[in-house]
Amino acid sequence: KLGRTLPVKGRHRKTVIVHANSNVRRNPNIAKLQAGYLFPEINRIKMKHLEENPDAKIISLGIGDTTEPIPQPITKAMAAAAENLGTLDGYAQYGGYGAEQGQTLLREKLAERFYAEVNIQASDIFVSDGSKCDISRLQMMFGSNRRVAVQDPSYPAYVDSSVMIGNTEMYDHASKQYGKIVYLACSSENDFFPNLGLAKDAELIFFCSPNNPTGAAATRDQLIELVRHAKETGSIIIYDAAYAIYISNPNCPKTIFEIPGADECCIETCSFSKYAGFTGLRLGWTVVPDKLKFADGSLVKNDWNRLMCTSFNGASNIAQAGGMACLSDEGMNAMSELVSFYKENATILKNTFEEMGYAVYGGTDAPYVWVSFDGRDSWEVFTEVLTKCDIVVTPGSGFGPAGDGFIRCSAFGHRENILEAAQRLKESFSRS
Ligand code: MLT
Repeated sequence: KLGRTLPVKGRHRKTVIVHANSNVRRNPNIAKLQAGYLFPEINRIKMKHLEENPDAKIISLGIGDTTEPIPQPITKAMAAAAENLGTLDGYAQYGGYGAEQGQTLLREKLAERFYAEVNIQASDIFVSDGSKCDISRLQMMFGSNRRVAVQDPSYPAYVDSSVMIGNTEMYDHASKQYGKIVYLACSSENDFFPNLGLAKDAELIFFCSPNNPTGAAATRDQLIELVRHAKETGSIIIYDAAYAIYISNPNCPKTIFEIPGADECCIETCSFSKYAGFTGLRLGWTVVPDKLKFADGSLVKNDWNRLMCTSFNGASNIAQAGGMACLSDEGMNAMSELVSFYKENATILKNTFEEMGYAVYGGTDAPYVWVSFDGRDSWEVFTEVLTKCDIVVTPGSGFGPAGDGFIRCSAFGHRENILEAAQRLKESFSRS
């Protein structure tokens, strides 16, 4: 009964046999997705290259995954927290289910360290297992049939999660865009800040600064414009600050809440992943301010709290102990050293491409270097870099159609690998 014969419509009529073992219809929104998620796809290609070239010494400048060990004051605190869970008292205090919103002390410390100068309270901060997870949960909170705008290029999770929840129409192969999403092109021509007029009907605007993948950090004036736009149109900005700690430019705010009025139109999400090497540990937070309201006057924060209580049981208590240690004086210094190390890597990569004669963006306020290959198909460049240099980068078009013609190089790597990659790139791709 479950193996059915379906007539396929179209010019070449034929019959296909479907071997199903359930009657459950596939989620039509997930069916709209074109390919696998970008980074596992790249990993698949890397593994295939390795299979065909077993001696290749592959260097990854692809996914932005941290490589340096978590600083010792932080690992020690986590080890102690783990030991503590092995005692009756320790387990009584920190074991079992934690608060879904995160430990109070951690929320207070986050408020003190990152939001002391702005109108954000500890109770506005929700600790989680990371920004990527919160992005999907935010989609779940807002629900389907929203009009979403994204920077183009942007972190692929914004678009993919919008597709999955039902905020888009089908994929259009000509424009390489999903219908209904507003793609806000960001390039050197507009100083990587989009024409917000295009998003006048958007309800939700995903905005990442410093931007992944371009590395561009928005200036105060640009963010003032962004907040003004949201207030004028009644939209909500989902501001991804996952790389804020990499900002050096004093003109670029480290949180959207530095902008007056942002607490009435913005949600900010952030993470320890790129701050302290927590990519595998998983710890982040999302700020939903008290003043942010839905059209009916109800608090967004109440719905976020409701959703978190239903879908999440609180971040791992050991990871939260690590988070507390990150926010101690010693931890803050250790994070800053780690970030400086990756930023030096970014400078090496940026200088390398510049010396080779390429136009390069990012790499000063972000761990990503965005390199122009003058409009060449970015998957083709990706393949050439992999084949000639055994280096994995990320093709710009993986972040959206406006990313085509670029590759993104991640500065997360051991220093010797970054230097070796620079050397190999110079040998194969120098223009001068
Ligand atoms: C990236 O490479 O864009 C990110 O590291 C992936 C992530 O944060 O999920």
